[in-house]
Amino acid sequence: MNNPLPEHIAKGSRLVVAVDGPAGAGKGAICRAVAEKFGFSYLDTGSIYRGVALLALQKGVTDDEELGKLAGEMPFEFRRVANEGFRAFLAGKDVSNSLREERVGRKASQVAAVPQVRAALLTFQRRYGGEKNIILDGRDTGTVVWSDADLKVFLTASLEERAKRRALELQGKGETVSFHKIRDMMAERDARDESRTHAPLASATDAHYVDTTLLTLDESIDSVVKLVDKLVGNKPR
Ligand code: DC
Repeated sequence: MNNPLPEHIAKGSRLVVAVDGPAGAGKGAICRAVAEKFGFSYLDTGSIYRGVALLALQKGVTDDEELGKLAGEMPFEFRRVANEGFRAFLAGKDVSNSLREERVGRKASQVAAVPQVRAALLTFQRRYGGEKNIILDGRDTGTVVWSDADLKVFLTASLEERAKRRALELQGKGETVSFHKIRDMMAERDARDESRTHAPLASATDAHYVDTTLLTLDESIDSVVKLVDKLVGNKPR
């Protein structure tokens, strides 16, 4: 938590919902559904770390200062594409599929430990969505990026269950996968994300803890919808 918070980018009157948790806990699917239901904008912060990772792999950049520069100058944006929802663009090219590759996820976890990269991406995250109510997910959205969020959720599930979901997702895309390999890579990534010095994966002390191990996707969505419902209902009009 050593990153300076850019106080000048105020939250204003918009509602901010910050959802954190390990890979495969269901953050993306749940946040997308909540964003759709309540008309919030949505930011998958993992994809911006993946964007830096993809650029680093393409350009062969490994130095921390250079990685920070890459993150600060990254021509990254999300655009809504007809019938496809939000897609990620890097220098005008749709990189959404490349970002989901396992090698990019692994590299993302490495570049995410670099303080220069985290600092460069902080402003991007706080500016995102302008005045609109927003739900965002990641590892430090409730502890660092929006430590003043209106609602914080820590979403998790057992390692076995998360690895099973990821294996099914990849199989659905026609990829041949080994469950054990996925589980081991996930455990390695969890350990790196939790143990890094700068903004490690952690639950904010005031976060609502939601364990989705025994929940279906609909039940998981419902548990977060209930929390947001209360928040929206409480907002002064
Ligand atoms: O959620 P994901 O698997 O797309 O995230 C990829 C990596 O990015 C993850 O291993 C840790 C890092 N990350 C982070 O450090 N902070 C965030 N707010 C989001 C992701």
